[in-house]
Amino acid sequence: KEVVGVGLIGYGTVGSGVVRILHEHKEKMERETGCDVVVKKIVVRDKEKERSYPLHGAQLTTCIEDILEDTSIHVVVEVMGGTEEAKEYILRAFEAKKHVVTANKDLLAMHGEELLNAAARNGSDLYYEASVAGGIPILRGLVDGLASDRIQKVMGIVNGTTNYMLTKMTEEGVSYEGVLREAQALGFAESDPTADVDGLDAARKMVILATLGFSMKVAFEDVDVKGIRHVTQKDLQLASQLGYVMKLIGTAEEKDGAVSISVAPTLIPKSHPLAGVRNEYNAVYVYGEAVGQTMFYGPGAGQLPTATAVVSDIVTVVKHMRLGTTGKAMSFASRSKVLQDDSN
Ligand code: NAP
Ligand code: HSE
Repeated sequence: KEVVGVGLIGYGTVGSGVVRILHEHKEKMERETGCDVVVKKIVVRDKEKERSYPLHGAQLTTCIEDILEDTSIHVVVEVMGGTEEAKEYILRAFEAKKHVVTANKDLLAMHGEELLNAAARNGSDLYYEASVAGGIPILRGLVDGLASDRIQKVMGIVNGTTNYMLTKMTEEGVSYEGVLREAQALGFAESDPTADVDGLDAARKMVILATLGFSMKVAFEDVDVKGIRHVTQKDLQLASQLGYVMKLIGTAEEKDGAVSISVAPTLIPKSHPLAGVRNEYNAVYVYGEAVGQTMFYGPGAGQLPTATAVVSDIVTVVKHMRLGTTGKAMSFASRSKVLQDDSN
């Protein structure tokens, strides 16, 4: 069997989930790809740190060159987070003619176009399904599943940490600080949870959804963002007495060529389907001119849901490698190239 080598950058919540799924779903991987997909090397900050999941033969290193210079590694999976260093590593991976899968929404929202263009220049694939709504295949759903429709609006809950916090604060009266620590311990929160509670993580995801949904260039600075930092138990109790629950809702709407995007704590009637989206789960409504209203629902954060999306992207890349269609797929991987072609 042909071996496809994978190099991981990061072995935290998501990275260890990727190794786990590749190991536990080995047969399924072979059936899907016809190849033996093997994690060969993993870059981390601290090689001596105790790891919660076995490496299954992969070699730990602190040196990115170990992956970039290894010609037996075809796919680089960036799950370390952050923007500048991650961007540099990904650009260098493209130069080394490798394909990249990432879960990094900060990076995509800030430098998505540059990265996608660099991928196209090098004939590489760049996939990032895990960057929005964890285990929900929303990017494929939006771009491929609804390819024939004109998307008018995308709206929903796209941050697992804050939804977990609001659920526990509402239903169990847990304190803001206590439940934030819980969300961190469960691996839902970002390394700097400010991004979650201040709505920045949700805003970055809405930028990605709007860019893909409306085929338009959208900047993070255009998003009107409010987080949940100032939401109190009293607010939630009062809302409940009046028949509402509070949710952090992202909305992106296109009207006459102009896009408006916002993220804000919003009161939702208890009878609305979004009110029943609890804990780290996410739900995204997509409104299309022809299809009407669709809803995507599932776990929006956490190790295995997120790793499922990452590994599914690896499967897509390996399929393209076997077909000789890498860097050519008309999917969310190449949407910015389409945007660029349109503007010429
Ligand atoms: P994490 O648990 O903090 O793991 C980060 C990993 O990256 C660690 O193994 C760390 O090494 C390594 N790392 C960090 N900076 C590095 C550097 N400069 N050089 C080399 N290695 C470095 O983070 P995570 O939760 O897995 O998240 C990873 C990415 O996935 C982020 O972009 C995040 O936004 C995204 N994401 C996370 C989730 C989720 O539910 N957690 C969901 C969707 C997307 P050490 O282990 O040695 O410290
Ligand atoms: N911190 C993010 C969240 C991880 O809670 O939604 C998933 O993107």
